[in-house]
Amino acid sequence: MSAQTQSARKTVRDIAAAKGGAPLVCLTAYTAPMAALLDERCDVLLVGDSVGMVVHGLPTTVGVTLEMMILHGQAVMRASKRAFVVVDMPFGSYEASLDQAFMNAARIMKETGCQAVKIESGEYAAATVRHLVDRGIPVMAHVGLRPQATNVDGGFKAKGRTDAERNRVIAEAKAADEAGCFAMVIEGVAEDLAAQISRQVRCPTVGIGASAACDGQILVTDDMLGMFDWTPRFVRRYADLRQTIAAAVDGYASDVRARAFPGEKETYLLKKAP
Ligand code: KIV
Repeated sequence: MSAQTQSARKTVRDIAAAKGGAPLVCLTAYTAPMAALLDERCDVLLVGDSVGMVVHGLPTTVGVTLEMMILHGQAVMRASKRAFVVVDMPFGSYEASLDQAFMNAARIMKETGCQAVKIESGEYAAATVRHLVDRGIPVMAHVGLRPQATNVDGGFKAKGRTDAERNRVIAEAKAADEAGCFAMVIEGVAEDLAAQISRQVRCPTVGIGASAACDGQILVTDDMLGMFDWTPRFVRRYADLRQTIAAAVDGYASDVRARAFPGEKETYLLKKAP
């Protein structure tokens, strides 16, 4: 890759410099066509492990594998050239040891060409953040509601309802920040907690269900495009693609059944070879 191609992409410096400035626009992307559409319009594309639920129909993100993340990361990198691309480290790929975390993060970086990885970072994970950053791997942290911890939490539960829980989220955020993460996702917390964390950490915060008090916002793209019947309260639907797709498929099915498709316009009229 030429230096020129590389310089077209946003860098970790651009993202880190957004602290307190214009809000970072971030969305998830899992496929090449979606990445191509979002690339010009977003600062950050996250190849989130939500891909397991959104694309593969898994009940949680716990079953997502490193191979799935690499495959989707490659598709997103192929189709984007401007946005900063972060790939999630899936459950079980970084918690066992610092070596495990480095080997798997390095594999993601080498095989996808992405700019950074994201890890769901309880306070214990600060050592992992530091280990990766020291070895050349930019890390986005993820605090508050951590979907990979759904089995210990007993579901997807907003965080910070008690003082103890609130203090734990603040401690997670400060630990990841001090360990050198370049940005952090804050998920599922009330506005005052998001505001306190955003004030107290050096890196930009990116909220999902965490109010406007963050330095940027992220949503699962399929949620905001209206691909699902149900979405969490914090999602704003900007389209109703489910309806649009259903109407298109109904139209196709009725045309096929009525032998109205294909018509003359969609049919090859090949001249006979002499
Ligand atoms: O996996 C994901 O899509 C995420 C976002 C919801 C932040 O982690």
